[in-house]
Amino acid sequence: MNPRHFVTFMDLSGEEVRSLIHRAVELKRLKTIYEPLKNKVLGMIFEKSSTRTRVSFETGMIQFGGGAIFLSPRDTQLGRGEPVEDSARVLTRMVDAIMLRTISHRTVEIFAEHSRVPVINGLSDRFHPCQVLADMQTYFEHRGDIAGKTVAWIGDGNNMCQTYIHAAQQLGFTVHIASPPGYDAEPELIRQAGVHCKLTRDPLAAADGADLVVTDVWASMGQEDEQALRAKAFADYQVNAKLMAVAAPDALFMHCLPAHRGEEVSAGVIDGPQSVVWDEAENRLHAQKALLEFLLPPDN
Ligand code: CP
Ligand code: NVA
Repeated sequence: MNPRHFVTFMDLSGEEVRSLIHRAVELKRLKTIYEPLKNKVLGMIFEKSSTRTRVSFETGMIQFGGGAIFLSPRDTQLGRGEPVEDSARVLTRMVDAIMLRTISHRTVEIFAEHSRVPVINGLSDRFHPCQVLADMQTYFEHRGDIAGKTVAWIGDGNNMCQTYIHAAQQLGFTVHIASPPGYDAEPELIRQAGVHCKLTRDPLAAADGADLVVTDVWASMGQEDEQALRAKAFADYQVNAKLMAVAAPDALFMHCLPAHRGEEVSAGVIDGPQSVVWDEAENRLHAQKALLEFLLPPDN
């Protein structure tokens, strides 16, 4: 039987996402030892830096009775030109699931195409589905189901933004995106989302009445050289008190972290009462444990 993968948010149905969120909330409350993945191993390939993704997956696997192996191109043959397909074929015969954080989204897809075990996208240049799963758990915990709500995405049309476009379709909310010219999400993704996605250049218009306001760094990993250029382009796209004032009075603020206070978000907002960024970070652990349990059913 072909394994299930989590390469994009579209790999799960809305019903499956909701059931994972409820399971994540249960796992978060669980105080007894529960080891459904005893002796199972997660291989983790990181082509880019990580704090939250690495620690949450590694901790989750240990808590579930298994283990995780950290692999970087610097000290594996992947960094010396061994074809991605061959690496996928080899790893899939040794580990029980593979998580990848890659420069190119295509690398995650190639792994999935050649894998006998579940492949999880731990961030690519196009998508960050594990983060948005944790964001959704956080919204559900604080405010209930997100169906019918409005999310304001302020800033870059990047991997996080594009995953929100997917999540909006799967969970039935609308995402209002305000990005500066030249930094839009992929047009095809926006088109596919239909009524679930609306674009504007005006951050205040996007935030108007929003139930959740989300932003991310102006320069993602690998775009450090563009920092100065982007700082100019995004100067009017900061989430601050003025912007939060036009959102719904009980609006939440989220950021996947790491954040740059004074750039994409003011310190007052990220450290203020509407911010749930620390719950959001913690939920990476619980949401991914629910995901691992779902993708790795017990042996018969
Ligand atoms: N949000 C997130 O993925 O954080 P890391 O880069 O630290 O893994
Ligand atoms: N958009 C950011 C997210 C980091 C978790 C990046 O890709 O660097």
